[in-house]
Amino acid sequence: MTPTWAQLGYLVAAICFVLALKGLSSPRTARTGNLIGAAGAALAVVVVLAADRPRNLLAILGAIVLGSVLAVPVARRVQMTAMPQLVAVFNGVGGGAAALVALLELAETSGAGGWLELLAVAFSVLVGAVSFSGSLLTFAKLQELMTTRPVLFAGGPYVFGGALLVAAALAVGVVLDGGLWLGVVLAVVGLVVGLLLVLPVGGADVPVVISLLNAFTGLTVAAGGYVLGNSLLLVAGTLVGASGTLLTRMMATAMGRSVQNILFGAFRTPAGAVAATAGEARPVRSAGADDVAILLGYARKVVIVPGYGLAVAQAQHTIHELADVLEQRGVDVSYAIHPVAGRMPGHMNVLLAEADVPYEQLKEMDSANPELRTADVALVVGANDVVNPAARTSPGSPIYGMPILDVDSAQAVVFLKRSMRPGFAGIDNELLHDPKTTLLFGDAKDSLTKLVASLKA
Ligand code: TAP
Repeated sequence: MTPTWAQLGYLVAAICFVLALKGLSSPRTARTGNLIGAAGAALAVVVVLAADRPRNLLAILGAIVLGSVLAVPVARRVQMTAMPQLVAVFNGVGGGAAALVALLELAETSGAGGWLELLAVAFSVLVGAVSFSGSLLTFAKLQELMTTRPVLFAGGPYVFGGALLVAAALAVGVVLDGGLWLGVVLAVVGLVVGLLLVLPVGGADVPVVISLLNAFTGLTVAAGGYVLGNSLLLVAGTLVGASGTLLTRMMATAMGRSVQNILFGAFRTPAGAVAATAGEARPVRSAGADDVAILLGYARKVVIVPGYGLAVAQAQHTIHELADVLEQRGVDVSYAIHPVAGRMPGHMNVLLAEADVPYEQLKEMDSANPELRTADVALVVGANDVVNPAARTSPGSPIYGMPILDVDSAQAVVFLKRSMRPGFAGIDNELLHDPKTTLLFGDAKDSLTKLVASLKA
């Protein structure tokens, strides 16, 4: 029985987690939210150790120190653009740990707690194992340790369906039998299901799967809370499960796809369509910084479209400077923010907030598209997929159906990029060859610095 003071401690920690989520919903309050969440987690660890007084306290403290020594430098050094990979790894170890805890509980109690507890154990083992192997595979894809494209093989859907059936049968076996060995086999099959789930997902869909696996980990932890009779784990797991599910749905909506289509769409895509890029050399119009500066300087209205390349170049301060110079010349400047621009949800908002760009100037897609129709220049800085008209016109393209920023409706379009290389989805962008498009080649920060200098001169 958990003592009252410990239950109160859990309640305070749970309130911290809810406040953390609230804080994380805006770039202004995200840091505070993060700190509150960390404080809640630290409190939870102290309370659980003080209340349960585990036999192997030294081993637990050793594991905490080892985990911190490994994770803190990685989290400190990670580039913002590599955040999805980091989240994938952290999420995977969370799911794996929850599955191991459930297996240990099975070893200790052999299901003495009844069928409902065994059901929660089976769920934790299976879904935790799926989350572990699936997350590590998404890490390998995003880190480009393997192809980022969907990996398909003959009979893939049947193998996946078969593995799911075997997993379901084993889970029923665990509930009826309560034996450890069945739980271990279930974990192994869960690892295979995780790999089969993620292999056919490629390109821009991988981050959505990370978010889905994050929801899986949350549910695994919640089931673990039930098994261990720990209310805080139940609450924390449910919060992670719910927020992961909401984020998955929001990302899928932003890409104009259903979650089902993201997971299994590649099975229905004709061979070759996914990997298709035109690749042939075709004419484009490029210009120097001075010419682009003239185009911008004489415009009435400029809409800036930031993307992943802005983050790579760390050009957020320079773009703010350019906007200031243009505004001093009487140009109306705003920023069009696509929900999946960059490499993580809210990436562009965070980046521009860091450079103190006024919130009022940031337009979400619904209000940005009407602005683009009346803009003289759409200035696309390190963005590609989120403005690629193939999303409207090319069925079979990996981004088909994704709502995009209609930069092609502006009078003129300027792309700041380094080469003709495609974006994350790996497909050509027809707009680069459009007669109204001008390319200014180079690193975004260098190009923006030249534009500012040219406009000031
Ligand atoms: P991308 O389509 O990836 O295009 C980035 C562009 O930036 C490329 O054209 C690249 O061309 C250019 N670039 C890279 N480094 C640069 C630099 N230093 N200076 C100037 N340009 C540079 O980016 P996007 O339009 O933001 O679209 C995001 C993509 O990522 C979508 O497909 C989305 O689905 C996916 N995704 C999104 C998320 C979330 S939730 N935001 C997470 C993961 C993946 P060069 O190489 O020629 O310079």
